[in-house]
Amino acid sequence: MAQGCVAVAGKHVRTFSALSRAWRACALLALLVLAVVPFAASGETVSEAEVTVTFARDIKPIFDKHCVDCHSGWFPKAGLRLDSLEGVREGGRSGPAIVPGSPEKGWIPHSLRLPEGRRGKMPPGEQRLSAEESRLISTWIRQGAR
Ligand code: HEC
Repeated sequence: MAQGCVAVAGKHVRTFSALSRAWRACALLALLVLAVVPFAASGETVSEAEVTVTFARDIKPIFDKHCVDCHSGWFPKAGLRLDSLEGVREGGRSGPAIVPGSPEKGWIPHSLRLPEGRRGKMPPGEQRLSAEESRLISTWIRQGAR
């Protein structure tokens, strides 16, 4: 837009008033853009807040299905319990399993991202989380993992 403004201004440099008219038009346009953009952005935030992903409702069923056979009980694998929110937040042998707010950090996202056959890929073997299950976990962590 700035380039457009310079181009417009350049064509009318002959008179001072034409120049100032061009700049006024550009300033008006800039104001319009500044006024509209925050509304568009806040609209998105509102619609996301409507679907808060929770451990109890959305995530526990996924972990129950794919993870708790090994990650619960007296001796959970790698010291990591995935049958309760407390367990997930405590993390395992290697450190934090999740970092609330940062879906790319922590060992759970890491282990889910690894390609099949790689050591540490979770769940081990041929089982895979569905795209929807992975998306839910990622959204859950981004929203603060509650
Ligand atoms: C068949 C048993 C089994 C299942 C099912 C399983 N895991 Fe694991 N998990 C392990 C073992 C064994 C390790 C230790 C791996 C190693 O040391 O290389 C481990 C390690 C991990 C770690 C690393 C923890 C740390 O602190 O070192 C994470 C994170 C993890 N699993 C997450 C998951 C998630 C999430 C699921 C379900 C999607 C899952 N696991 C399902 C057996 C399992």
